[in-house]
Formats: sequence, structure tokens, C-alpha cells
Amino acid sequence: MGKIMLEVKDLKTKYVTRFKENVFAVDGVSLEIEEGKSLGVAGESGCGKSTLALSLMGYYFAPLHYISGDIIIDGKNISGMKPDDVRKNILGTEVAYIPQAAMNALNPTQKVIRFIEDVIHAHDKSVSKKDIFDMARKRFEILGLPQEVLNRYSVELSGGMKQRTVIAISTILSPKVLIADEPSSALDVTSQKMVIKMMRDLMDKGYIKSMIFITHELPLLYNVTDHIMVMYAGQIVERGTARDMVFDPVHPYSKGLMGSIIVPEEGTRDVKLEAIPGTPPNLKNPPAGCRFAARCKYVIPNCSLGERSKRIFDDNRMHLCIHSVEFLKETYAKEGIGIAALSSAKAKAEKSQKSQKSEKSQKLEQSENLEENEKSSEKTQENASKKSNENESGNEV
Ligand SMILES: Nc1ncnc2c1ncn2[C@@H]1O[C@H](COP(=O)(O)OP(=O)(O)O)[C@@H](O)[C@H]1O
Ligand code: SF4
Ligand SMILES: [Mg+2]
Repeated sequence: MGKIMLEVKDLKTKYVTRFKENVFAVDGVSLEIEEGKSLGVAGESGCGKSTLALSLMGYYFAPLHYISGDIIIDGKNISGMKPDDVRKNILGTEVAYIPQAAMNALNPTQKVIRFIEDVIHAHDKSVSKKDIFDMARKRFEILGLPQEVLNRYSVELSGGMKQRTVIAISTILSPKVLIADEPSSALDVTSQKMVIKMMRDLMDKGYIKSMIFITHELPLLYNVTDHIMVMYAGQIVERGTARDMVFDPVHPYSKGLMGSIIVPEEGTRDVKLEAIPGTPPNLKNPPAGCRFAARCKYVIPNCSLGERSKRIFDDNRMHLCIHSVEFLKETYAKEGIGIAALSSAKAKAEKSQKSQKSEKSQKLEQSENLEENEKSSEKTQENASKKSNENESGNEV
């Protein structure tokens, strides 16, 4: 086992609303990420993914409040630190956070280089603007981003370029943990792949040491992360390798999440889709026992009685359900929902893994082809924007 970059133990956080009601959005989350590894967090809207991302920074401001638990980054426990200390000594260097829809939140009146200056000066006011520009220029070059972007305003950039720029800004201080909340959700498929490739590059080149990728799309995580956790109503209900979680989910909620999504793999075309009925519970007053009980077709009376124990199986996989893995797998096999199609997709993935190139490098190659396409489309856009700027004011681009 490699060095642990991030360890979270039984973290509990809550929102306190204007009406003084508590919303228990992160309720007892534990996780570990090794150096060089990435972890995906999946779950429907309202399950607490964004709150978990926010909570992991250790930087709390109303209405979000820390209740208990530990957040340990590279051996340093940051839980309980004063917000000012976290801002000065943790954010950017130990952990970087890219919030949901971050690219749309960039101040349109500020050039990209100014954002980078802000990030660096928050830690060290003495670094000169020239040194910052040189550092940013080098980093952009390594990450395949055009240097002209540094002198642009965010409104002049395409969606994909804007998101990649946000990621480059957030990681300029080479943090140990990068937490990205739905970084590719609002993008078209080509830009989505470019963003994912850039995040991989950051890791491969050592600019980030570990990564948490949050999305409501479980299959997307298969291409991006090493491990996946499924979150439901503020808790982790299943955890495993990306492959196991996508092709062999065990918990009824993960199974439902996977089954209700079309996987773009050969062999899944005939898959029978089953939506999960109902919606996640209100976290102001979460139900006792299993929080999924009201929506679960395998529910038994004991499910709502008390806490379920975590079941650890197969090489540190975990699921939180009253039923054993064997019982659930047998039940799914009898029902046959999605099984044939998923096994066919699994066989295909295994076959491709056995071929000479590794899966990762194949995926990277695909992304590189896409990068060429996007580069040429970005170039066209840049030229158009350059022309229009020149026509309008004769300013620099
Ligand atoms: N600022 C807030 N104040 C009170 N409740 C909130 C706030 N933000 C989110 N919530 C609630 O916390 C729960 C988890 O939300 P969130 O973390 O945004 O979920 P996800 O990212 O999985 O969609 C939801 O029940 C949501 O309504
Ligand atoms: S504990 Fe019961 S209700 Fe919850 S997922 Fe398992 S079977 Fe379903
Ligand atoms: Mg969210």
C-alpha cells in the first residue's frame, strides 16, 4: 500500500438553516486515498456530494458547520483548525477545491493572470508579478494550454478552455489533494474528455498527489478514477475499485444507480433500464436505520430498526446493507436485470485490458486525438476573438 495522502475518519458536518433547522448532509463519512490515486464520488442530486467536497477542505463558514471527525492530509490533521489558518496554510497547497460550476463564477472583469496572482499572494505576498507570470507560463505550457490565455478575460474563452483554466489556476501551488466537484458536467463530450485528460496529466506529472472527482454519473468515473464511493443521504453506502463498482455493484442503491444509466459500451444496448423510484430523504430528519429503505425493493422489516454494520469483502470493498454480498448477488442473478449486458461489457473491457496497450494509455490516446480536434476548434475561436478584439479596440488578446 502506498503513502496515504488523505484520510477521513467518521466526518460529520451539517447546515444550520435560517430557521435554525439542522441538515445532516455528511453523516459519518470515512475514506482513504493513496498517493497517485483518484477516488470518484457518485450519487444522485441532494445526496451530500458537494457538502462532502466543501467539508473536506476543513474551511467552514455558515451555514455549514463541522460536528466531528478527522481530516488528515499527508499526516497533518486539519480538523478543528481556525478558518484563517486553513485559508493561509492549507488551501491551495495541501488541498485545492474546484466548486460545482466554478468556471461560470470567474470574475469577468479580471484577466486570468490576476487570478493566479491572487492564489499565490494569498500564501506569499513577496512573490513578484514577473515570477508569477513566468511560473504560470511554464505550467500552462506543460498542461497544453495556450499562453495567450493568461492575458485573456474569462468571457473570451470557450467553455472547455475556461474549465481547464480554472483547474490550472486552482492547482498552481501543486496541492496534495485536488477535489473537483462535477468538473465536466456542464461541458460537451469533447471538452469533457479534455478536462479529464488534463486532470490525469496533473497527476501523472506530479502537480497533484491525489484527486477526488465528484459526479452524479457513475459510468464516467470508470474512465477517470481508481476507486469509487457511492453516497446516499449523507453516507457512503458502497466503496470499491472503479471496475468492480461499475460492472459489479452490490449495494441495492449502487445497483439501481448503475442500472438506470446507459453505459456507452458495446453489449449494453439491450440493457433493461430500471429507474430508482422516489427521491432521497430529507436530511433534516433522516429516517432511522437504512436511509434507502423507502425506495429499496429488497427491504425487510429489520432494515429500519437500527444501524447496519459495514460489510467488508473482496479486497477491502465495503457496502452498507443488512443483506450479505452473496444474497444480493444471487438475487440480482435470478432477476437478470442488466446482468447479461453488463457482463458482456465487462468481458470486452477485460479483453481490451489484456491487449498490449494498457487501458489507461488507450484512453489517453483517445483523449489526445480529441485534444487535437479541440485545439483546432479553440484556435479557430481564438482567431475569431482576436480579430473581433482588433477590430473593436486594437487591444492585446
Ligand atoms: N446552504 C444550504 N443550507 C441548507 N441545506 C443545504 C445547503 N446546501 C445544500 N443543502 C442540503 O444538503 C443536502 C446535500 O446537498 P448537496 O451536498 O448539494 O448534494 P449533492 O451535491 O449530492 O447534490 C441536500 O439535502 C441539500 O438540500
Ligand atoms: S439495508 Fe435494507 S433497505 Fe437498506 S439497502 Fe439493504 S436491503 Fe435495502
Ligand atoms: Mg452537488
